[in-house]
Amino acid sequence: MSDQRLPAVQAANELDFISHSPAQTERVGQRLGEQLRPGDLLLLVGTFGVGKTHLVKGVARGLGADELVTSPSFVLVNEYRAGPQHRRMPIYHVDLYRIADEAGLTTIGLEELWDGAGVCLIEWPERAQALLPADHLAIHIQHLSETKRRLRFAPAGARYVSLVSAFKDTAFG
Ligand SMILES: Nc1ncnc2c1ncn2[C@@H]1O[C@H](COP(=O)(O)OP(=O)(O)O)[C@@H](O)[C@H]1O
Ligand SMILES: [Mg+2]
Repeated sequence: MSDQRLPAVQAANELDFISHSPAQTERVGQRLGEQLRPGDLLLLVGTFGVGKTHLVKGVARGLGADELVTSPSFVLVNEYRAGPQHRRMPIYHVDLYRIADEAGLTTIGLEELWDGAGVCLIEWPERAQALLPADHLAIHIQHLSETKRRLRFAPAGARYVSLVSAFKDTAFG
C-alpha cells in the first residue's frame, strides 16, 4: 500500500492529479463509476476526512445508483444497487476503520464481496492488507489544503491499467 511497495513498472500507469473541491472529487468518482464492471475492486487509501466517501458517492452516481451514499462506519458494509444500464449490479461499500484485528475481518466475508457479481469499494483497506487480491485499483487521496486533494490512481493488474487508461480518456481526453 505504501509507495515503496509499488513495483516500479506500474508507476508509468499511474494517474496523478489535484481535485479542487468536494464536487470535483465526486465528478471524478462519477467518471470512474461509469467505467466499472462486475468484479472490480477499488481501494480508497487516505486519512480520516480526506474524501474517500465523497469519491464513493460519485462512483455510485456514475453507476446510476439512486440511494443515498453514507459512511458505513457503523455497519462496515453498505450495499447499493447500480442502475439498469449497469444491470443493477450490487455496489459494496466497505469501511474497515473500526476493524480491530484479522478475527473481525473474517466475520465480514470480504472475499465474497469482491468475487461477486458487483463492484467493491473499500475504505481503510490497510486493515485487510493480508487478504486483498493482487489485482485492484488503489486510489490514494492526500490532503493538500482545506479544499484541495491530491488523487493518485495506482492500478495493479491488466484490468485496472486499462480502467485507468479509459478513465483518463473520458475525464481528460
Ligand atoms: N477536494 C475535496 N475532495 C473531497 N472532499 C473534500 C475536498 N475538499 C474538502 N473536502 C471535505 O473533506 C471531507 C471529506 O469527507 P469524507 O468523504 O467523509 O472523508 P473520508 O471518507 O475520507 O473520511 C468533507 O467534509 C468534504 O467536504
Ligand atoms: Mg469515509
